[in-house]
Amino acid sequence: MTLIRVVKQVQRKSLQCPLLCKFSSDSSALRKGPECKWLCGSSQEIVSALRGQVEVRQNFISEEEENALFKEVEPGLRKKRYEFDHWDDAIHGYRETERLQWGVMGESILRRVRAVAFPEGSPLLGPVHVLDLDKEGYIKPHIDSVKFCGSTIAGLSLLSDSIMRLVPENNSTDWVDLLLSRRSLYILRDDARFKFTHEILKDEDSFFIGQKVPRHRRISVICRNLPV
Ligand code: OGA
Ligand code: MN
Repeated sequence: MTLIRVVKQVQRKSLQCPLLCKFSSDSSALRKGPECKWLCGSSQEIVSALRGQVEVRQNFISEEEENALFKEVEPGLRKKRYEFDHWDDAIHGYRETERLQWGVMGESILRRVRAVAFPEGSPLLGPVHVLDLDKEGYIKPHIDSVKFCGSTIAGLSLLSDSIMRLVPENNSTDWVDLLLSRRSLYILRDDARFKFTHEILKDEDSFFIGQKVPRHRRISVICRNLPV
């Protein structure tokens, strides 16, 4: 695990979303546009600070595309065992692989990811990172290596919904939660990537605006660019 290191592990009780991003029609004063379907935070300020730097595109891939990606990555993952017992790892309950060559459908999906996520001409990290989290697995708060990865991280979520939490590195009382629905694409850019830790919550902590978001086995397919 050279790409990431654990930054801190703050024990949090399960947090309630404030009235910031309510779905119901009676919360007119605090509704903040379409991102409220997938973003909620501890304060208006923190949500505003991240505007434009976090994005979740729901249903970015179809069920057929999800299936095709799964079929491509599963044989490589199956050969490995889930890692549970390295207490100092940033990730618990996972196995992973990297992939340089993709089939026709995989390649066309990744082309779409690159087109929407990265600045044109930005040099990309060649191999795509494939991370398989067991149902019991989770990712602790960390910042991806600034030595090996650039300004943008883009990830597809297969098989399960999950919650990604962002916490400012210098102020661990604020937080922003992203609902990463199955088959969505998330993008973290700039400050969201450099100044906030990100983590994927374990099943027992997986809630969005008070609603349980069951965490099953989840596979992510992650593209990164190179540092400039
Ligand atoms: C990582 C990471 C998030 C994900 O591997 O550094 O943060 O979506 N992964 O799996
Ligand atoms: Mn990461």
